[in-house]
Amino acid sequence: AKAGHYAVGQFNINNLEWTKSVLLTAEELRSPVILGVSEGAGKYMTGFGTVAAMVKAMHDELGITVPVALHLDHGTYEGCYKCIKAGFTSIMFDGSHYPIDENVEKTKELVSVAHAMGMSIEAEVGSIGGECADPEECKRVADLGVDMLAAGIGNIHGKYPANWKGLSFETLDSIQKLTGQMPLVLHGGTGIPEDMIKKAISLGVAKINVNTECQLSFADATRKYIEAGKDLEGKGFDPRKLLAPGAEAIKATVKEKMELFGSVGKAE
Ligand code: 13P
Repeated sequence: AKAGHYAVGQFNINNLEWTKSVLLTAEELRSPVILGVSEGAGKYMTGFGTVAAMVKAMHDELGITVPVALHLDHGTYEGCYKCIKAGFTSIMFDGSHYPIDENVEKTKELVSVAHAMGMSIEAEVGSIGGECADPEECKRVADLGVDMLAAGIGNIHGKYPANWKGLSFETLDSIQKLTGQMPLVLHGGTGIPEDMIKKAISLGVAKINVNTECQLSFADATRKYIEAGKDLEGKGFDPRKLLAPGAEAIKATVKEKMELFGSVGKAE
């Protein structure tokens, strides 16, 4: 993605419907895709082992041929080891809340373990809460040999407040200059205007995370179905019918993002 000047989307999954919608859309659009699993979502789905088994089986049953990564999102140190054991293909170690020396030390250890297992690893510097990371600290972590780096550039998770100042392209630019060819990760993809997404990609972002936007699309479509009384008509209460509009809405959001990120047709 980095060499091709586009970004691969990470779409967080919450259940079977989510996973199916994301995988089918990636296949239809011939786009590589990353399925993100937070520690909370992993727990909700009864554990990382359940998630890995479901994703692997669904991938095979659906005959998915585009590249798919199963990636831990904002992992703790312990969570990373659980996902390595469970059969994930990629992890994110989020040590951004530790003092930088401790973040470096733990990231370094996990880089060697993940790479020995043939997995990729994302690290984080500077939290995703609207602040900007220190480019020198980013260089220290990038130099550990991580495969991708998430750095705060004014981005936040969830909806952006009306008074949000926007992404700091100055920070992004200096981080990329210091880290060379390191693929950078843009968290908080929900609600970032299209022009900012495109500029971020042009400055070195090669992975963009989207979670809330799929949740909002799903909730909105489900609300419309129920408010229209469709669940009360015939067998409209059947979960296969009740959850269908939400699942279609997720597909539409994922499609829109893949087109914006430029990953459509990039699967080999
Ligand atoms: P959003 O929920 O804002 O899309 O952020 C997703 C994310 O960054 C997951 O790590």
